[in-house]
Amino acid sequence: MAANKISRFVVGWMLAALFGLAALASTAGLASAASRAQTPPADPRELGERLYAENCAVCHGEQGQGRFGATLAKNWPSIRPDLTVKTIIENGVPGSVMPAWSQAKGGPLTSTEIDALTQYILSWQTGGAAQVSPQPTTTLIPPITPIPNVQGDPNRGARLFGENCVVCHGGEGQGRIGATLAKSWPGVRPDLNLRNTIASGISGSQMPAWSRANGGPLSEQDIDDLVAYILHLSQTNPVTLVSPAPQQFVPPGESPLSGWLGVLVFLVLLIVVIAAAVGLQKRKS
Ligand code: HEC
Ligand code: HEC
Repeated sequence: MAANKISRFVVGWMLAALFGLAALASTAGLASAASRAQTPPADPRELGERLYAENCAVCHGEQGQGRFGATLAKNWPSIRPDLTVKTIIENGVPGSVMPAWSQAKGGPLTSTEIDALTQYILSWQTGGAAQVSPQPTTTLIPPITPIPNVQGDPNRGARLFGENCVVCHGGEGQGRIGATLAKSWPGVRPDLNLRNTIASGISGSQMPAWSRANGGPLSEQDIDDLVAYILHLSQTNPVTLVSPAPQQFVPPGESPLSGWLGVLVFLVLLIVVIAAAVGLQKRKS
């Protein structure tokens, strides 16, 4: 009887140890997978290039040639052009559609990110714009079924939205510097209101006018397609667009589940299993 008890106790312990080891191995595996997936950009220019494509190209052109916003691929007449460019990015240009980007001013970018952008923009100073490889800003998962009675192709609209609007309205129209667009639109013909707003912009705000008639870059067809897409966003609030989220680099060893926390998880599991085993013993004896 006693021998049986002891052997059961030993089996309990072994099970606990196995459990704990498995937990430790899996957390360590997770941690290393996470650090593998999120390798840091090799140099700040690469970070700058990515941030530029995501946030600035819409107004300044892929190569800084200027579009809606000023030409950036130029020489900056200043003793410290880096400070000039950095300050403008941080604070925006009041009275223009150039937003403030620093977090101190309510923007989305950290100081490191603005430094990287500054370096990237200044790399255009000599020898013109860098070659920017075209990056898809959005990936459409399922094709969108057109909405009855609404002109325009929501699939094309989705692409245009990724190129022109995500920067202010967020990847799913959830709102960022600009208003939330994934919402229900009041009115009998919301499509007409939307088309008007997009074509003419909202004066006194950062929302620019987009139609060519108003000096913007988009055709009537483009705007109809955007309207169809925005109405689709409001119908199916769950995610339809995946935009590459800014990758955060987690240095190896700083994943929340590695190190001491991993050991803690192991110990807690161990205690739980032992307690269960002891409980079982007591009930049986
Ligand atoms: C919504 C459009 C828009 C976006 C997005 C935008 N800008 Fe601008 N930006 C402008 C406009 C317009 C101007 C010119 C303002 C003026 O001088 O009236 C400008 C000016 C600038 C200038 C100063 C140019 C000069 O010659 O003085 C810099 C630098 C700049 N932007 C950097 C950026 C960076 C970096 C980003 C992305 C993080 C960005 N901008 C995003 C519209 C935009
Ligand atoms: C530089 C930032 C910026 C960009 C780029 C931008 N918007 Fe906006 N948008 C705004 C802001 C800010 C508002 C809110 C203005 C207000 O009501 O004061 C707004 C409002 C709107 C509204 C009205 C929302 C409402 O609740 O009435 C629509 C529609 C809209 N934007 C569509 C678009 C579309 C489509 C694009 C791309 C073609 C776009 N916007 C690009 C900043 C931006």
